[in-house]
Amino acid sequence: MIKKQITIAIDGYSACGKSTLAKDLAKKLSFIFIDSGAMYRGVALYCLQNNLFDDDTNPKQVDIIHALKNITLSFQLINDNNCLFLNGKNVEELIRGGEVAAVVSKVARIKEVRMKLVMEQQKMGANGGIVMEGRDIGSVVFPKAELKLFITASQEIRTQRRYLELKSKGIEAKIETISSNLAERDLMDSSRKESPLIQVADAIVLDNSKLTREEQLDFVLDLVRNLV
Ligand code: CDP
Repeated sequence: MIKKQITIAIDGYSACGKSTLAKDLAKKLSFIFIDSGAMYRGVALYCLQNNLFDDDTNPKQVDIIHALKNITLSFQLINDNNCLFLNGKNVEELIRGGEVAAVVSKVARIKEVRMKLVMEQQKMGANGGIVMEGRDIGSVVFPKAELKLFITASQEIRTQRRYLELKSKGIEAKIETISSNLAERDLMDSSRKESPLIQVADAIVLDNSKLTREEQLDFVLDLVRNLV
């Protein structure tokens, strides 16, 4: 069905189903799928592993900026799952845990971290045919994307989805912890100085609180059909 290698940018709050939608779309269209949040999580994990936070879990900014040259991130498809590799090691499981979730938005506020990751993301999408999801994809990474989506869902539903997702991966977490982490990250991501999460004027808003996985995919595929 698809002839044109368009770019699809998906942004939105934490745990609103961006990854699920992006993965489904990429599979259907035979496009590349990139979870940009995994890359920020990868940098946060490196910082945890290398003592780059102070005792109050504030990032040691100067040291982190200095360490960026030692961080190599890549994705590899393993059992149909796009896994993040940090300096050659599969860290897909580690980056999803509570420890990383608690600090990732503090690392994602650092301008130099964003510059490095945005540059890598733009390289990955240089030839189009890509679905990328995150917070600044339609605004900063691919401002000229042919299709921009802004996904929303109620806080309650997002918490429930994240709880079930973690549980299915064997990661135990309390509902209250997940809920407060999502709220904290949403606030930090929306209010930061460097490329905050915003809904750009040309994005199509999709509230998927009451949609099934198939329904949200069909909705977006209809939009894609009008573009190609
Ligand atoms: O999966 P979830 O929605 O919980 O978050 P994520 O997409 O894995 O992103 C984790 C964190 O990385 C976010 O809370 C942001 O602080 C940061 N992030 C960002 O700043 N810019 C992006 N393009 C993607 C993620």
